[in-house]
Amino acid sequence: MKILETRRLLLRHLEPDDLDQLFALYSDSDVRRYFPEGTLSYEETKEELEWFLNGHPQHPELGLWATIHKETNQFIGRCGLLPWTINGRFEVEVAYLLDKAYWGQGLGTEAAQAVKDYGFQVLKLPRLACLIDSENRASIKVAEKIGMVFEREGQDEHGPFLLYAQNAPPQSEMRQHQ
Ligand SMILES: CC(C)(COP(=O)(O)OP(=O)(O)OC[C@H]1O[C@@H](n2cnc3c(N)ncnc32)[C@H](O)[C@@H]1OP(=O)(O)O)[C@@H](O)C(=O)NCCC(=O)NCCS
Repeated sequence: MKILETRRLLLRHLEPDDLDQLFALYSDSDVRRYFPEGTLSYEETKEELEWFLNGHPQHPELGLWATIHKETNQFIGRCGLLPWTINGRFEVEVAYLLDKAYWGQGLGTEAAQAVKDYGFQVLKLPRLACLIDSENRASIKVAEKIGMVFEREGQDEHGPFLLYAQNAPPQSEMRQHQ
């Protein structure tokens, strides 16, 4: 099922046939460098993919979505919205991960911006966040470019992270964008 489209990208639900391409990304140590779990095995990738086939099981409107490069029809990543409880507070994270062959063309920003707009405008979420490793310069840059503001450092069972966040703009401003 299609979630959203941008000029160069289409985001849709993950499908079983995405497994090999998702594994190619999840087994790449450059792509997974700043993830606490590091690279994933084929089995771990399959588990994650199956978990998200119909959106997040507890929050079907959220999830990780296949990110397709429209021009080449290639599966180039997975981006989306992930629910977390951080220090007792419900947060929805704007998540993005792309094939390194496609880095540096503005696609990460394009995907993140569209996911953020979808979260605010379609899902009417009051607030969105990004959880980022402090060394992940590219991710910090993308978060800043879509208007996320550094809030604080955090720590959970996976390790330390930076929390960037943004509240939904007022309804009147949203209408002007549509
Ligand atoms: C984060 C990620 C999606 C960015 O994708 P991208 O398509 O390369 O990003 P963009 O081309 O939109 O670049 C956004 C900005 O970051 C900058 N940037 C990109 N890579 C950078 C790096 N390694 N160091 C510093 N800045 C970087 C770009 O120059 C650009 O800024 P500018 O417009 O001022 O020039 C990509 O690096 C990725 O998939 N990384 C692995 C997965 C990951 O770590 N995801 C985030 C987890 S929190």
